[in-house]
Amino acid sequence: MDQSEKPVFSGLRESVPSHVRHAGLIDWVNSVVALTRPARVEWCDGSQEEYDRLCAEMVAAGTLQQLNAAKRPDSYLALSDPSDVARIEDRTFICSDREEDAGPTNNWVAPATMRATLNKLFDGCMSGRTLYVIPFSMGPLGSHIAHIGVELSDSPYVVASMRIMTRMGRAVYDVLGTDGTFVPCVHSVGAPLAPGQADVPWPCNKDVKYIVHYPESREIWSFGSGYGGNALLGKKCLALRIASVMGRDQGWLAEHMLILGVTSPAGRKTYVAAAFPSACGKTNFSMMIPPAGFEGWKVTTIGDDIAWIKPHDDGKFYAINPEAGYFGVAPGTSYESNPNCMETIKRSTIFTNVARTDDGDVWWEGMTSEPPAHLIDWQGNSWTPGCGRKAAHPNARFTVAAMRCPSLDPEWDNPEGVPLSAMIFGARRADTVPLVVEAPTWEDGVYMAATMGSETTAAIVGEVGIVRRDPMAMLPFCGYHVGDYFRHWLAMGKVVSQPPRIFNVNWFRKDENGKFAWPGFGQNMRVLKWVVDRCEGHADGVETPLGISPRYADLNWQGLNFSELRFDGVMRIEGSTWNKELMSHDELFKKVGAKLPEALKAQRKSLGQRLAG
Ligand code: OXD
Ligand code: MN
Repeated sequence: MDQSEKPVFSGLRESVPSHVRHAGLIDWVNSVVALTRPARVEWCDGSQEEYDRLCAEMVAAGTLQQLNAAKRPDSYLALSDPSDVARIEDRTFICSDREEDAGPTNNWVAPATMRATLNKLFDGCMSGRTLYVIPFSMGPLGSHIAHIGVELSDSPYVVASMRIMTRMGRAVYDVLGTDGTFVPCVHSVGAPLAPGQADVPWPCNKDVKYIVHYPESREIWSFGSGYGGNALLGKKCLALRIASVMGRDQGWLAEHMLILGVTSPAGRKTYVAAAFPSACGKTNFSMMIPPAGFEGWKVTTIGDDIAWIKPHDDGKFYAINPEAGYFGVAPGTSYESNPNCMETIKRSTIFTNVARTDDGDVWWEGMTSEPPAHLIDWQGNSWTPGCGRKAAHPNARFTVAAMRCPSLDPEWDNPEGVPLSAMIFGARRADTVPLVVEAPTWEDGVYMAATMGSETTAAIVGEVGIVRRDPMAMLPFCGYHVGDYFRHWLAMGKVVSQPPRIFNVNWFRKDENGKFAWPGFGQNMRVLKWVVDRCEGHADGVETPLGISPRYADLNWQGLNFSELRFDGVMRIEGSTWNKELMSHDELFKKVGAKLPEALKAQRKSLGQRLAG
């Protein structure tokens, strides 16, 4: 029997609210209902009442725990299934029509094969559950840079999180009208309920997980996980993997970048975007408070994870943050490392996989120097300091609205975006890569970004701490062939007359004792000021084999005791490590294969010569 002929949720057509006037959308919902056979369908309106009701239902079901209203008002804790704690790259697929369009860095399965597999998995997978229709806009509603998605999910946790992370709700249907374009996203936790079967607090499918993208039809299908980027499909799936393909086809960039504004004491504003791999401090950098020695300087936050960057008539790139909230890594976040973030998450936050204090608040490693005497850990067990287990999962998260951030930039919601003067690429490297280098040209910058390597973090399932090449911090997020992506980047430098300057940074270099050699966090302002000054033509630098770097005297050291010797340590370019590094660039380029642009081959050759000379 054809799926569309199967019995559907009775009353679907009658349940469609009158403000939903898009026949294509209604037909698609109908077809997914026919396939997944939920017990109910709920058309979400994005209202506060709806959010409060769903949270109350999740508290009753044990999915959420309400936190102490005096300590953490309007906030909840979710503890996930231990098998469902991070993005799963080996279960993420780019099912382009042709394998060569997915390229060597993506998992590919022929679309017809994948559709057959998924059709079986989604057949009846929502039985006993509610299918929620979640309309959302990535980017300010109606902005010419924004795009609309509709997620169908059987997880109320996803609905609540999408309301925080995106512009979600009724107003999206007004933008969509009767025939507007949207990205269809289908998500199921993959845990159907038989009649009378009791639910678990965090339903998921322990054995089968698929995160699937069809780039040509711009569709997303996700099965088996309820966690983060696997389930909140506006984020990595739409705003990066699908959007990167849109950007390739339409002449723009969807990047794994934070966006911040820097205001000088003279009131001059500069916007900077910065790409770092997952869990490498993008949120901290985007909310930075300038340290002593930078009186009168201010940093404001546009976004902490994703930037959509489009050419503008004035010859610059303009960027928006397509998201409306932060899904940030909790461990390591403290009043020392990120006071603005701590203020942001003081209330109205959903925490996932952090520990719970005995008075109903939250705690994670690094939040305070002294841990509380007793906690309930992220797996729901009693925890005491020294018990040998982490209290919070290393990839524990907070989900909170951007509006709560004290450093939010007044332009964060501007539908036109903000003009970018600089792009910074950074990675986590204990050695080899200096504190900061500026690329002399766009092409040099594209090479630097393309060959970036970083130590892996707990944001992904797999071994932590191995250096892997992570081009533009987009390795898990580029929805097409990485060679075509490099070509697109090279071409984009020519579509505007004033492309941003490109810089490479490394906050994570270690000294001979294995300790971080650079203080990081707010002290990164010293580097950021140099970047901004370079954009304004106010700062000097010196040529090195890697590009232009500041000398000790070119940075402002007021308020920090950091000797020239230590500075030399974090800036050092060592021949032996660079020989290894170049070999690793070669391996990446070999993997990219025939699609590697000639310009990058030429860059590799000249870098080799500069380092040898
Ligand atoms: C994220 C990630 O959640 O990059 O932002 O994993
Ligand atoms: Mn990210």
